[in-house]
Amino acid sequence: MTVDSRSGAPRILLIVGGGIAAYKACELVRLIRKAGGSVTCVITEGGQQFVTPMTLAALSENPVYTTLWDLKDEAEMGHIQLSREADLVVVCPATADLLAKMTAGLADDLATTLLLATDKPVLAVPAMNVRMWQHAATQRNIAWLRESGVEVMEPDEGPMACGEYGPGRLPEPETIWTAIAARLALVAPLEADPLSGQPDFDAEPAHRPLYGRHVLVTAGPTHEPIDPVRYIANRSSGKQGFAIAAAAAAAGARVTLIAGPVTLETPSGVERIDVESAREMADAVNGALPADVAVMVAAVADWRSKDFAAQKMKKRGTAPPALLLAENPDILAGLAVARQRPRLLIGFAAETENVIANAKAKRERKGADWIVANDVSGPREDSVMGGESNAVHVITAGGVETLEQMPKSAVARALVERIARELEPKDE
Ligand code: CTP
Repeated sequence: MTVDSRSGAPRILLIVGGGIAAYKACELVRLIRKAGGSVTCVITEGGQQFVTPMTLAALSENPVYTTLWDLKDEAEMGHIQLSREADLVVVCPATADLLAKMTAGLADDLATTLLLATDKPVLAVPAMNVRMWQHAATQRNIAWLRESGVEVMEPDEGPMACGEYGPGRLPEPETIWTAIAARLALVAPLEADPLSGQPDFDAEPAHRPLYGRHVLVTAGPTHEPIDPVRYIANRSSGKQGFAIAAAAAAAGARVTLIAGPVTLETPSGVERIDVESAREMADAVNGALPADVAVMVAAVADWRSKDFAAQKMKKRGTAPPALLLAENPDILAGLAVARQRPRLLIGFAAETENVIANAKAKRERKGADWIVANDVSGPREDSVMGGESNAVHVITAGGVETLEQMPKSAVARALVERIARELEPKDE
């Protein structure tokens, strides 16, 4: 028995647990295949109540395994081989029961036996009822699994199949695929970017998902002058905003990038307008309208110096001058009520505590459609600001979707895919 091993293609062993979200595993298989990956599915008995092995076999173009006794070469320890030939083992949906069995080290069926026998990285994608998710036993199991090196994705928040509301929904298949691709890039370096197989981005320009759209992006910090040599600034590097501009251009959009003072190269196909202060940024944004989408990633200074000294301020042995501050215009909140409000208005929120609750409140307060929240607490050395990777929560009217820690380019790609999906149906 061998796992399909198209040369060079990343190999994924997908374990499908028994929950209503199992149907989304079918879409995940399709995305993996579309991106050029190879996937072998194992489905639990519970999983078969929701999707059939036949469906998974057709989508994966591989045999599907359901019991230990499927592995005809058990004499050759077939289950060991199956669990180790993959580059990555993905459990999706990971039910409360499967997570508990993984924690306990049980091996009473093919799925759990493979999980106990594997020496490959494991990514678990939980989906369950909100109370089961919040139960102390589940939370303890997840903490233990994470400590043991299993990557456990955060579930989405929103209305559930059972009628309740809260965290526990399976993330969207595109989000899971992005997490898989980011993980594969770490464990099995690929010749090509694992996301580059997404055909929509590589199609003829006129067939790309954002073709014909104008996307406005703000990025970087602003500098608020005090005198000709001094200014108020913040730690934003602009990397996440530039990555979003690049991803939107790759998706076929016309992109205007309004950048505060940063030292980054302009992504190809992007029109860049450099500004320094918040007020200049506000003017540039208004001048770039109309736009279909605005993604306000800039860390705009909330305050500027009330007075600008035309000449460099001197010490002259006197007491230090008081720095009086004035409030800057809120560009995002202004756009939300503008006559030419973009159809999709997205803000970013840098938070150091109560990340989701603060970001939800910010969405309402600023009138944005989505807020992309990131946690910027934590030590400087692994800080989001200036760093290369990011983990974000996308807060929409419908709930919260979490994108696990991944390179900023992958976050950008996932967001742009999400934006393209949001715009699509309304045009039909
Ligand atoms: N923003 C803006 N104009 C400002 C301040 C912020 O357009 N003057 C935008 C940012 O680009 C970002 C969002 O608002 O998309 C959130 O910025 P943040 O600084 O987190 O929000 P604040 O309103 O400053 O909230 P607080 O400082 O209370 O967290």
